Amino acid sequence: MHDETCSKLFSFFVEELKDIYWAEKHLVKTLPKMQKAATNEELQDAFANHCDQTKEHVSRLDQIFEIIGEKAVAQKCEAMEGLTKEGETIIADTENGTSTRDVGLIMAAQKVEHYEIATYGSLVQLASTLELDEVVELLKITLDEEKQADKNLTNLAESKVNHMSLEEMEA
Ligand SMILES: [Fe+2]
Ligand SMILES: [Fe+2]
Repeated sequence: MHDETCSKLFSFFVEELKDIYWAEKHLVKTLPKMQKAATNEELQDAFANHCDQTKEHVSRLDQIFEIIGEKAVAQKCEAMEGLTKEGETIIADTENGTSTRDVGLIMAAQKVEHYEIATYGSLVQLASTLELDEVVELLKITLDEEKQADKNLTNLAESKVNHMSLEEMEA
């Protein structure tokens, strides 16, 4: 009988948890900036709602660290920092109050969601291999919320924002 919590795979799993823990905390600070920069009210609401969910993602990770008996430590995630910097560049490069900025914000936000979906998808698999059943269930809840957030953004782009931007004329 092997002890999963002493394996190299377990250590790797913990390192990856620290990485996404940093990323989620970083997003709690970033999403309000994106909300502020957005023009479309539904997009503003989408960012506000997902910010609330993201706070839950952080506390779910706190719970996971506790379950596995590891200290909750945030380790800088360079990928997430890069993705959010890209969002800041989009804000700087587009005009306030335009749908074109909204298009850019949606694109930046979807890149973030896809990063999270990839991460949580892999973490679910790892936790399952490590037979951490309770952790699997918690990670799956977050994974589903990330997928839903991504779908909502696609719907907003398709149904409204992209068309509104198409009608915007160069000044
Ligand atoms: Fe998240
Ligand atoms: Fe997310």
